[in-house]
Amino acid sequence: MTDAAIFARDRLIVALDVPSVADAEAMIARLGDSVTFYKIGYQLAYAGGLPLVRRLADAGRKVFLDLKLHDIGNTVARGVESVAGLGATFLTVHAYPQTMKAAVEASAGSALRILAVTVLTSYDEADLQAAGYRLGVSDLVRLRAEQAQALGVHGLVCSAEEAAGLRPIAGAAMRLVTPGIRPAGSDAGDQKRIMTPARAIAAGADYLVVGRPVLAASDPKAAAEAIVAEIEQARKQASN
Ligand code: C5P
Repeated sequence: MTDAAIFARDRLIVALDVPSVADAEAMIARLGDSVTFYKIGYQLAYAGGLPLVRRLADAGRKVFLDLKLHDIGNTVARGVESVAGLGATFLTVHAYPQTMKAAVEASAGSALRILAVTVLTSYDEADLQAAGYRLGVSDLVRLRAEQAQALGVHGLVCSAEEAAGLRPIAGAAMRLVTPGIRPAGSDAGDQKRIMTPARAIAAGADYLVVGRPVLAASDPKAAAEAIVAEIEQARKQASN
């Protein structure tokens, strides 16, 4: 699918950061047709949330499974095959060459697309050094983005601030998926590097991951619709 062919509505990914399947289902029902793409992470996946992937897919929704896989190649490959069978659209892996290669190869022939997490945003230079890395954050992000591109990884998870800088490495085909999105006036929570939906789209993000600004809104559906409208407006401005 070309970038321009993705509808504004399908660019919003709502993070189902809730503790139970019942909570997730209640939120999905409240959001109705306003949301077509959901992210399921550790919290919900390990609380019985994996069967929800198939239920959502059967209901015409897409699912981003944020499981951040990393293991020996063979184990990653078998895990990716199982995830492809669940009906997920995106799956995250850590951006290590062996892991990315195994994941991309195992996803071939399925609809599953692999996203690489370059460097976790909670890591700074000191954290990388303590973990034994010689590169700083920006150099490591760049190196891993280049490796992801060369290995045929389908997209990168990055902050909206990084999106413009990564686009030349990623090229037009790789998807840039950005969390840390806050509509103007909403609470930043624990996110430090935040951007509005409009600015993230202008910076080149393809998909926006949004959790609390939708989940904690008094009217989640209206909050989601406002974000979609902002994405649509920003896309129109970008193409003018
Ligand atoms: O509630 P909020 O909009 O901050 O949620 C953002 C979602 O994106 C959460 O599920 C979080 O785990 C995820 N995420 C993030 N920052 C990253 C990678 C993922 O906030 N660098």
